[in-house]
Amino acid sequence: MGTAERKIIDVLEGKTVTPPPIWLMRQAGRYLPEYRQVRATAKGFLDLCYTPDLAVEVTLQPIRRFGFDAAILFSDILVIPDAMNRNVRFKEGEGPLLNPINVDGIEKLVMPDVKTYLAPVLETVGRLRRELPQETTLLGFCGAPWTIATYMIAGHGTPDQAPARLFAARHPKTFEKLLCLVAEASAAYLVAQIDAGADAVQIFDSWAGVLGEGDFENYAAKPVKRIIDMVRAERPDAKIIAFAKGAGYNLKTYRQTTGADAIGLDWTVPLDFAAELQKDGAVQGNLDPLKMISGGDDLEAAIDRILDKLGNGPLIFNLGHGITPEADPANVEKLIARVRSHGAGR
Ligand code: CP3
Repeated sequence: MGTAERKIIDVLEGKTVTPPPIWLMRQAGRYLPEYRQVRATAKGFLDLCYTPDLAVEVTLQPIRRFGFDAAILFSDILVIPDAMNRNVRFKEGEGPLLNPINVDGIEKLVMPDVKTYLAPVLETVGRLRRELPQETTLLGFCGAPWTIATYMIAGHGTPDQAPARLFAARHPKTFEKLLCLVAEASAAYLVAQIDAGADAVQIFDSWAGVLGEGDFENYAAKPVKRIIDMVRAERPDAKIIAFAKGAGYNLKTYRQTTGADAIGLDWTVPLDFAAELQKDGAVQGNLDPLKMISGGDDLEAAIDRILDKLGNGPLIFNLGHGITPEADPANVEKLIARVRSHGAGR
């Protein structure tokens, strides 16, 4: 068992902590009335991310309400393309919009000065580390190059990232250049977050699941390895979680290829396969986020299945993707209570 102060760090080092620590992807967000209240005072969503007073407040809201073992910095993965002058904005009910980039645009892209452009986010990280209880792990994050590239090329969300997949097939060299630049900017950003006070960081590859086998290796796994190598070259002890949503069987080699301390599992990953992946190190996940809407006995059974299969190894309990706006906060409370009762009396 780990010491109370570093439960998540202990798990990231491969230790088994009972009961497992828990946090939820997107734990600050629209399912919380107190978030919606703060959100209404900000002009746009990115203004919320770039205003430390507000970003600190919404990061702390789920910690105060639920006492999660980790706080995740309130920001967005698209601040990196924003720092690259892609004019990121969020339209109510429409998701993100960016100026779509083409071959010419990529050739002209330059490495952004993330420390200057994202100074307000780094200030938020520093303030959070000072305000959070010592036992709460502070997580920083960034998007993986593939996922960031999909938004940069299409200029908006799509169901299958066809624009980026077509672009990669037609212009492989230019596409590699884009991935490398995003990886370099992301590594600098993660190092800056760690220096500002983040205890660990997560890399979100939300669109890894649309890639075929060879493309997964080249566009998802290798660019994430690049980020991790660059971060560790500067901060050798950096603790890193890599979440490749929809990666399925590709996860078998993902930890080894990338060098991540923990791999995030979406809710479609079978628990027997998850237990196999756990033999090589920590896993994080993987409750279906919709169970936070439906609740009931089915929720309890699903939690117990994860605890039974993965609770006796290095596990960070989480959802298999972000919590949705329709989630019932009462179900989040039930989830935490049930996970925390795991192994009681042993
Ligand atoms: O987890 C957290 O609580 C920290 C904050 C966080 C947000 N986005 C806040 C957010 C994190 C870690 C992210 C990551 C993110 N952003 C990802 C990767 C994880 C995932 O969900 O797949 C992606 C793909 C994005 C890009 C993005 N941001 C989209 C597609 C959208 C629109 C969809 C939506 O949910 O509205 C966003 C907006 C966004 N990011 C919101 C929040 C709370 C909602 C905007 C609002 O409150 O007005």
